[in-house]
Amino acid sequence: MARILITLALAAGTLATSPAIAGDAKAGQTVFKAKCAMCHGVAANSPAGIGPRLFKVMGRKAGTLPGFTYSAAMKASGLTWNADTLSLYLANPQKAVRGNRMPFAGLPSAADRDNIAAYLATLR
Ligand code: HEC
Repeated sequence: MARILITLALAAGTLATSPAIAGDAKAGQTVFKAKCAMCHGVAANSPAGIGPRLFKVMGRKAGTLPGFTYSAAMKASGLTWNADTLSLYLANPQKAVRGNRMPFAGLPSAADRDNIAAYLATLR
């Protein structure tokens, strides 16, 4: 019993300090450049493109970057971006946030999605 509690306490501590992201940021950057960069800037001062700037996107509430005109669906999604919500969204954007306006069919590879999450987490 004591051991279980210690394990739980350690797990909680890990979650609190580092949002453990399994992916490989460098591999994620490569996929991002090929599939996302044409619509999304990543620098602190990138202008909005077809899509919103993704600098500091991790931890951001979906649909809240000032100056970008989001769909009503994205604003109402209630999501906050982290490795899990991002993976869910990128797997099938129209299924995850029905009616959102991102013209992207989806990333079938879970490894690609984890790697992109790891890469986006470096943008801060
Ligand atoms: C053809 C352009 C296009 C491509 C390609 C694209 N996006 Fe998007 N993205 C958008 C648009 C437009 C929105 C806003 C959607 C809305 O408001 O409904 C968006 C929204 C997002 C959001 C929500 C941001 C926020 O501020 O809430 C994330 C995260 C995101 N995209 C990540 C990605 C990733 C990662 C890729 C590559 C796998 C990608 N997008 C590919 C156009 C694109």
